[in-house]
Amino acid sequence: MRLSVGPLGVVAVVLAAACDETPPASFPQSLDAQLRRAIGQWNVVPIGNPPLQDTALIALGRALMFDKILSGNRDIACATCHEPSLHMADGLPLAIGTGGTGTGTARVLGPGRVFVPRNAPSLLNSGIGLFYIFWDGRLSRFGPQPPEVNLPPDLPNVIAAQAMMPVLNRREMRGEPGDRDVFGNPNELAAISDSQPEQIWEAVMQRLRAIPKYDTLFRAAFQTSASNLTFKDAATAIAAFELDALTKTNSPFDRYLRRQDDALNVEEKQGGILFFTQARCASCHNGPFLGGQSFSNSGVPQLGPGVGQGAPLDLGRGALPNNQFYQFAFRVPPLRNVELTAPYFHDGTFSTLESVVAHYNDVPKSLRNFDPATLPAAFQSSYHGGQATIDSILSTLEFQLRTPLQLTETEQRELVAFLKSLTDPAARDLSGLAPAAVPSGLPVR
Ligand code: HEC
Ligand code: HEC
Repeated sequence: MRLSVGPLGVVAVVLAAACDETPPASFPQSLDAQLRRAIGQWNVVPIGNPPLQDTALIALGRALMFDKILSGNRDIACATCHEPSLHMADGLPLAIGTGGTGTGTARVLGPGRVFVPRNAPSLLNSGIGLFYIFWDGRLSRFGPQPPEVNLPPDLPNVIAAQAMMPVLNRREMRGEPGDRDVFGNPNELAAISDSQPEQIWEAVMQRLRAIPKYDTLFRAAFQTSASNLTFKDAATAIAAFELDALTKTNSPFDRYLRRQDDALNVEEKQGGILFFTQARCASCHNGPFLGGQSFSNSGVPQLGPGVGQGAPLDLGRGALPNNQFYQFAFRVPPLRNVELTAPYFHDGTFSTLESVVAHYNDVPKSLRNFDPATLPAAFQSSYHGGQATIDSILSTLEFQLRTPLQLTETEQRELVAFLKSLTDPAARDLSGLAPAAVPSGLPVR
């Protein structure tokens, strides 16, 4: 499930050295030496720049990302759930799809609608080469196809593949049979059967082709008229925009990795040492992205309508075919810019980094004592806190999380300080990304 190179060995070495009155001269004691040695165990490297994207492709992708024309009811864009002012997430525990009203944390469900079962992840750095996409990793760089749809071949990258999917999803963007759009007209996308994805993509393209500004943008990007193109090309453009505008990897921690010792302060370095040794975070959050390459059950409370056969629970990766071994396991999220993307976990049940670190300090206790009153009011009744559910989560809890870490208050603060050193300053204000208007003329917010 995850790399099993234990950090315990490192702790043992550090402690043994601390007790030894005459450490060998070759054993380095400075904070930097300790931190660099700890980091060295986990294949953490600075993240380089993504491949340069074509400017015409980026311009088309940006328009599509913010245009509600992609949704059946013409009432929701990708950027409604992945908003620049909320660092490309929505600030809600669980996302609210078509039919909803309001923006960001003020967004509310439409009459008769149900929450999207999971938290909308930030799109920051989703294009940097994560092995798995989505909380259950059902889309992967290595294949196979996600269970819900056969994607066309020749998609240029995994986030272009991802961009094919929200327009098919009834709850997120497409709508239910019989829905009428914001102008009162029949929603032709929702009328198509779920088993006809090709027709749905083509129907979205028909909408785009009917807008002259889109034809111009498609021509500039692909040197041919939109009538010769398919939704795969639209998805390719969205991915180009994501790669270009949303890759934010120049954090103080990245500068530290590039051997700039003063990029982190003492508290952040102490937190870093904890992260990579005693607090055992890096046994899951490792590799270049500090996550994104494995799955585990981290004892997160269950919230929301649930997924598939497990509903009203969400078994995460365990709900995918042939993955029963992964009950309640979710993707280990990458951690760059995590400070900016609350609330946390697959269902947004924790609203601060402090509360996440306190959770890890004693996972079974945190799960048993979870207080739904900490959630925004509209979500509280969707919490599944029954004894049977909690026992079921704990029965497959990742082994190393069963024992409390016994971190002091100071150590917990240091860990939070370290997590905040993962923020690229350029990710703090993304408000410049939203265009003033989109080709359809629909409102941008
Ligand atoms: C209704 C809100 C909503 C809309 C609209 C929406 N998304 Fe998402 N997005 C989500 C949620 C929720 C997830 C996580 C789903 C899961 O893991 O099962 C997600 C996941 C993603 C991911 C994967 C990120 C990762 O790290 O795994 C990407 C990329 C993404 N969305 C891009 C888009 C694009 C592009 C569009 C428009 C074509 C879009 N989204 C529309 C809510 C939304
Ligand atoms: C056993 C593997 C494992 C260990 C150890 C671990 N994590 Fe995690 N981490 C995960 C998984 C899996 C998730 C997502 C869980 C979910 O959503 O249900 C997660 C989520 C998070 C999140 C929320 C990210 C987001 O975008 O929502 C943060 C922050 C985090 N971990 C920090 C830490 C810190 C700090 C430590 C050490 C104290 C740590 N993790 C130890 C596996 C682990």
